[in-house]
Amino acid sequence: MADEPLAPPKHDHATLTFPEGFLWGSATSGHQVEGNNQNSDWWEWEQKKPKEFQSGEACDQYNRFGEDFDLLKNLGQNAHRLGIEWARIEPEEGVFDETEIEHYKKVLQALKDRDIKVMLTLNHFTMPLWLAKKGGWENFKSPKYFERFVKKVVPEIKDLVNLWITINEPGVLVYCSYIEAKWPPQKKSNLAVLKTTRNLIRAHKKAYKIIHQIIPDAKVGIAQNVQSFTAFHKHSLREQLGVIVSDLTTNHLFYFFTKGYHDFLGINYYFHNRLQVDKGLFPSTVSVSSFNKEVSDLGWEIFPEGMFDVLTDLKDGLPIYITECGIATSNDDRRIRFVMQYLQEVYRAIQAGVKVKGFFYWSFLDNFEWADGFSPRFGLVEVDYKTQKRTPRPSAYIYKDIIEHNGIRHELMKFLGHRIHVTDVIDIPGIGVVK
Ligand code: BGC
Repeated sequence: MADEPLAPPKHDHATLTFPEGFLWGSATSGHQVEGNNQNSDWWEWEQKKPKEFQSGEACDQYNRFGEDFDLLKNLGQNAHRLGIEWARIEPEEGVFDETEIEHYKKVLQALKDRDIKVMLTLNHFTMPLWLAKKGGWENFKSPKYFERFVKKVVPEIKDLVNLWITINEPGVLVYCSYIEAKWPPQKKSNLAVLKTTRNLIRAHKKAYKIIHQIIPDAKVGIAQNVQSFTAFHKHSLREQLGVIVSDLTTNHLFYFFTKGYHDFLGINYYFHNRLQVDKGLFPSTVSVSSFNKEVSDLGWEIFPEGMFDVLTDLKDGLPIYITECGIATSNDDRRIRFVMQYLQEVYRAIQAGVKVKGFFYWSFLDNFEWADGFSPRFGLVEVDYKTQKRTPRPSAYIYKDIIEHNGIRHELMKFLGHRIHVTDVIDIPGIGVVK
């Protein structure tokens, strides 16, 4: 007699299992964790600010990378996204510091020794001061300078990197530096917006080509800040149109101009915007505070559904890595819920046919949050900046459990429905006490 077909598992009782070989990691960037990145544009800019807005020693990862990577390993993570600092490697124009290259080789080797896959960012917001003085990304030659740096550094570290990110969030860089002008060089200028966008596009393409010349089968991409947009009034045509235009310009434009220069899509997902036509012709973003939604310590709306939207929206056949996703909160029970809710949406997208290959929580450690200084706490691991002591938060262990099961098991799923109150100890049935 033929076997009876198995009844399909009840959705709410199933473990949400991710694809085999899924990369589970967390992310940082050089300037935000290393400390003393003194030859960079950011360093110089910070010196005029109050102490709490200066990166200073940051997490001192420049010296503590070994113990940090031991911690990553103990927390079960099988991949790590980190950056190298161009300003350290090329502190003067055309002069490369071999000791810094050796340093980064040791850092990357330390990850390899622990069997942790490496996603490496070549440029994460900062640049050498000499280049900033020449106009930074506004300078027509900036893509050439970046190419020279990439040509120098990639052959040295090529055997130690699994996935390459050329540039982190080009759109955010342009927005924060030249539109909102809250980051260096704080220059509000439409012309600068056009110039920097063009040069970042050229820089990515050049870097992509060079890396492929050196390593033909390299996997190269960018980390793009993608945002979810919805119309405040579903039936407003103008608001819906605003959603389409915002989606195209924010999420697709850079990919459009660099088509054919990506082996995967890297997605940083943090933001949801509700667009409303209030006065005037164009819709604007409704302040989240006006409708009592849960927000992070930075006031960013918690909107897990947006993860599904951006993944299904951007899907175009290439593998996707979530290169960043995380919450700034001093309350770790919120981080636990965040991780599970957002991962549930990643899982849904995978079920819907999106090829998601990995997830990097932002951030591994609390770190220097750019113009917001040290107060936002994004880390799975808490950093006491006075002593540099690292203390994994309960969320780090929940994430470890997810990694060990390559998915969210039923015992954890139950907690999605309610708020978990975490003091310093949590006891999860089937998992035990987590400190
Ligand atoms: C950036 C990170 C930053 C994080 C949280 C991303 O836009 O790549 O450097 O710390 O968001 O704001």
